[in-house]
Amino acid sequence: MEFLELVKLRESVRGYIDKKVEEEKILKCIEAARLAPSACNSQPWKFVVVNDKEILSEIKNKIYDSVIGINKFVLTAPVIIAVVGEKRNLTSAIGSSIKKKDYTSMDVGIAVEHLCLQATELGLGTCIIGWFKNEEIKKALGIPKNRDIELIVSLGYNNNENPREKKRKNIEDIVAFNKY
Ligand SMILES: Cc1cc2nc3c(=O)[nH]c(=O)nc-3n(C[C@H](O)[C@H](O)[C@H](O)COP(=O)(O)O)c2cc1C
Repeated sequence: MEFLELVKLRESVRGYIDKKVEEEKILKCIEAARLAPSACNSQPWKFVVVNDKEILSEIKNKIYDSVIGINKFVLTAPVIIAVVGEKRNLTSAIGSSIKKKDYTSMDVGIAVEHLCLQATELGLGTCIIGWFKNEEIKKALGIPKNRDIELIVSLGYNNNENPREKKRKNIEDIVAFNKY
């Protein structure tokens, strides 16, 4: 598939059919994430893949926020991946501190997009999720206190075959050559 075609095909999938995701497909998605670039090649991430029914139902309720009414679709997801921000290497940590940039979030974001694009290519759907109960999910998944979940990704087979039209800013509004 042409790269831009794949990029256009990826979308946030907010509803999944009741079908198991093959472990080799999950691992291929993680492999794509593993190969992502990161500041000083620090690779500050760990992917906790949840596909056990009992654990899934426990953490889904910590992602679906019934008060605000957000992320209800996760209840249909057969796989949830919690992406944990790991300790950065020294150069990345020093660079981050001097330049006041959160390289961990950036690194994880890039790796997560690799994961999502690979999933799309495999015919799977994903949704990147930033709204969840970090501390409660950490506890449920045995994630150490001094770590945080940066993002969560839901993964499964899309229950809707028709891709949505992309709503994006126009290219002339986001690009400048040579001067801001
Ligand atoms: C960092 C981040 C956090 C997000 N958090 C959520 C979320 O909690 N719930 C949700 O439904 N979508 C979430 N999204 C998905 C965005 O809403 C979505 O990517 C955007 O609207 C563009 O739509 P598309 O992915 O279908 O192209 C998140 C995306 C990113 C990159």
